[in-house]
Amino acid sequence: MNSHALIATAKALVADDKGILAMDESNPTCNKRFAKLGIPQTAEAHRSYREMIVTTPGLGECISGAILYDETIRQSTSEGIPFVQAVIDADIIPGVKVDAGAKAMAGHLCEKVTEGLDGLRDRLTEYAQIGLRFAKWRAVIVIGDGIPSRACIEANAQALARYAALCQEAGLVPIVEPEVLMDGEHTMAQCFAVTEQVLHSVFDQLYTQGVMLEAMLLKPNMVLPGLNCPRQETAEAVAEATVSCFLRAVPAAVPGIMFLSGGQSAELASSRLSTMNAGFKSRVPWALSFSYGRALQQPAMKTWAGQDANVEAAQQALLLRARCNLAARRGQYSAVMDATGSLTPAASTTCACTSVARTKRTGHSQ
Ligand code: 13P
Repeated sequence: MNSHALIATAKALVADDKGILAMDESNPTCNKRFAKLGIPQTAEAHRSYREMIVTTPGLGECISGAILYDETIRQSTSEGIPFVQAVIDADIIPGVKVDAGAKAMAGHLCEKVTEGLDGLRDRLTEYAQIGLRFAKWRAVIVIGDGIPSRACIEANAQALARYAALCQEAGLVPIVEPEVLMDGEHTMAQCFAVTEQVLHSVFDQLYTQGVMLEAMLLKPNMVLPGLNCPRQETAEAVAEATVSCFLRAVPAAVPGIMFLSGGQSAELASSRLSTMNAGFKSRVPWALSFSYGRALQQPAMKTWAGQDANVEAAQQALLLRARCNLAARRGQYSAVMDATGSLTPAASTTCACTSVARTKRTGHSQ
């Protein structure tokens, strides 16, 4: 393991206010999303869709890394460029999802444990040879009547830590993703308590397995009320609860917290991240960033709808979301960006929202 190279990759993934694009939906998940939009559920449709994403002009100005699916890394663009190379050409670091999915847990059938450790060392060696530089493993924790159980939390935490240790041995930065799901009626306080417990267990296992915290990234849920909780919370309350929870449980050596979107709308995911950065960026030890799947891709997938004629419009939709989240990392996202659909770049010296507002007032872009 070359720890300097690993640390440099982890730092590069959080640099310049950029974040990660998760485009690693498994085939069943991708097919479900395609089916809802009337898109054919074929390997060729997956390929065309992902080509639309990675060839979006300017994407690398906002996106530091892309998490690919195993199928994608074996495919090429229509011009014959392997996807891993196309991602590198876009100035984006390529990574890959390596877990084999969350499966029903013996003795705890309402809960899941993520599988995929068997043979992982060999798969990681191959991925590193292909040019991939980081990996992702997702564990799923459900809040419900009497759950999560200690058995579920500890089994998932141990698998995450064993995966992370294998990644670092192979020269890949592990993204450690313990996701407490939003589904349910639970309150934000319940999500806080479960997320804190899960994070303590995960970092305890990461320590036990000797994982280098400087060379990994955490990909967690935000602390939110359940989707069916009658009491929803303001962006300020979510930001406060999320940062308080992570300050208690995430060591300062971790370079970045890359939130997943988890089913939040694209606008809410940007606004909550922006509120967190506006209030706490200068006071927390890690970068508060994003590794969104749906919250980056959903508008683009809907616009694309499987039609070549829609590629350019879909790329504009993706780029808008990427720019909104770059602004969110600066604490500068505003709903105006969505309302205008403006693609005015978020220049580092200018507040993105100010420049969008100026465009709206004057009718001229700069
Ligand atoms: P969402 O942002 O859609 O939750 O996806 C993130 C992800 O990578 C899930 O593993």
